[in-house]
Amino acid sequence: MSFEKTFAEILDLLLDGVISLEEIERSIEKPRFMNHGDLAFPCFQLARTLRKPPVMIAEELSHQLQNRGDDSFERIVAAGGYVNAFLNKSKTSKKVLTEILEKQNSYGNLNLGKGSTVTIDLSSPNIAKPFSMGHLRSTVIGNSLSLILEKCGYKPVKINHLGDWGTQFGKLITAYKLWGSEEKVKETPIKELLALYVKFHEAAERQPELEQDGRDWFRRLENGDKEALQLWEWFREESLKEFKKIYDLMGIGFDSYAGEAFYNDKMEKIVELLEKKGLLEESDGAQVVRLDEAGLPPCLIKKSDGATLYSTRDLAAAKYRYDEYASAKSLYVVGNEQSLHFKQLKAVLAKIGFDWANGLIHIPFGMMLKDGKKMSTRKGKVVLLEEVLKDSILLAQKNIEEKNPYLHLKAETAEAVGTGAIIFHDLKNFRMNDIEFSLEDMLKVEGETGPYVQYTNARAQSILRKASFNKQNVQIHLNGEADWPVITELLGFPEAVKRAVENSDPSQIAKYVLDLAQAFNKYYGEVRILEENEGKQSRLALVQSVSIVLEEGLRLLGIKSPKEM
Ligand code: ARG
Repeated sequence: MSFEKTFAEILDLLLDGVISLEEIERSIEKPRFMNHGDLAFPCFQLARTLRKPPVMIAEELSHQLQNRGDDSFERIVAAGGYVNAFLNKSKTSKKVLTEILEKQNSYGNLNLGKGSTVTIDLSSPNIAKPFSMGHLRSTVIGNSLSLILEKCGYKPVKINHLGDWGTQFGKLITAYKLWGSEEKVKETPIKELLALYVKFHEAAERQPELEQDGRDWFRRLENGDKEALQLWEWFREESLKEFKKIYDLMGIGFDSYAGEAFYNDKMEKIVELLEKKGLLEESDGAQVVRLDEAGLPPCLIKKSDGATLYSTRDLAAAKYRYDEYASAKSLYVVGNEQSLHFKQLKAVLAKIGFDWANGLIHIPFGMMLKDGKKMSTRKGKVVLLEEVLKDSILLAQKNIEEKNPYLHLKAETAEAVGTGAIIFHDLKNFRMNDIEFSLEDMLKVEGETGPYVQYTNARAQSILRKASFNKQNVQIHLNGEADWPVITELLGFPEAVKRAVENSDPSQIAKYVLDLAQAFNKYYGEVRILEENEGKQSRLALVQSVSIVLEEGLRLLGIKSPKEM
């Protein structure tokens, strides 16, 4: 049982139903300063109910608590309207370290999901276009969310909703037939296909009839024309091969690659349903669903030429996911600029009468900036992500050569550090914040970076290699001085996991591992861990526990932990 719970329960006994146990538990905080105690219970809400000044309530409660107190607490005192509790340090240290050593990486697991399925729409790049920074963010955030959900007892299903359908493929086929070369596409598929697409748009400015050709080819594609399908399939395959290189570098996999095209034969049913319910209206020849009552612009379902749209496919996809996976919740990790699209999607589904539409949750995020400006992939100015990842790995490799040239597993370590740096940089701030892309900052070993946390863990591992730590029958006796800040961090891990899952916010984990790493490095500077005396095994138990939790925290972010750096 957690210490918050113990504290809440003894408060509950005293308060005798004035406020509920859940309310007490919810209001328990961590004091801002460590010398104010380890847990604090604010009495301001009670003051309103009891019509007594909070300071007086705090005094009374702490007085009573001292006399009946559990031996989990060393001291309970009143301070300005708060009841502050100081944990019994030796008991707490022993309890938390024993728990971590026993549970290993399942420390902090929560059973919130009770095995229910959650689908996560993530990454979802567009075929024949470069993998953008936005897609990188979606991949990294979505992957971490799925790991966090899994830790909390959910069954995540990761779906890569590839942008592999739409009128742009009609244009692409037109361009390929006019100017394309098979060899060039095979050589550098995405670069070449993008160039063709750009060329189409330039040419169409002078020859508007090309637009019609594009629409015709897309119609042929939607009608299953053999040549159109063959070209499309080839573009898709070549693009996917390139995307997979990126996923491999980052060690990320998916449960499904069902992209937009997958819903080709599933859209008509939705359109029929909309028609049957009288929700479709004509507007300038197109078919739309009006959403005035939701305060939203109409959702476009079919263009005037009968072509389906992004939203039509998303409607079919939402229904398919609900039917296929019986998912309780359906997350969409997609940039903030698509907020309106997801509001419309939800509103249309609700209008059809699908009560599960409530379970659709858009998880938006901000932009990746370079020198304060949006990183653009348009107009052929391509930032190839694979190159970015490779650069980062190369830079990590250079750092290793300089600092630790005799390291084992050099290449693997450089890969873990190079990709970890990019992932951590993305996840350390709340996802809605825009982030500035700077490889150099990401790879610093000091400061708030992935390599810093990885390095701290490697340091813990190196201590454990030097000493022989036997976790069996270790007697843990810590004095609660230099080690206490580390112990309280370790104690806070389950709470960090909970905050992360409740707010779909991996930065809770990133910030947590930074704090733990910092606390540990301070401890490392102050204490002679390996000194031969009776405290040595206890200190090693602490080092081992720190490493377990750092590795688990990094794992939840999608980052590897090299044992040596
Ligand atoms: N392919 C889209 C884009 O790059 C993102 C798809 C997101 N997922 C979805 N179900 N709409 O903008």
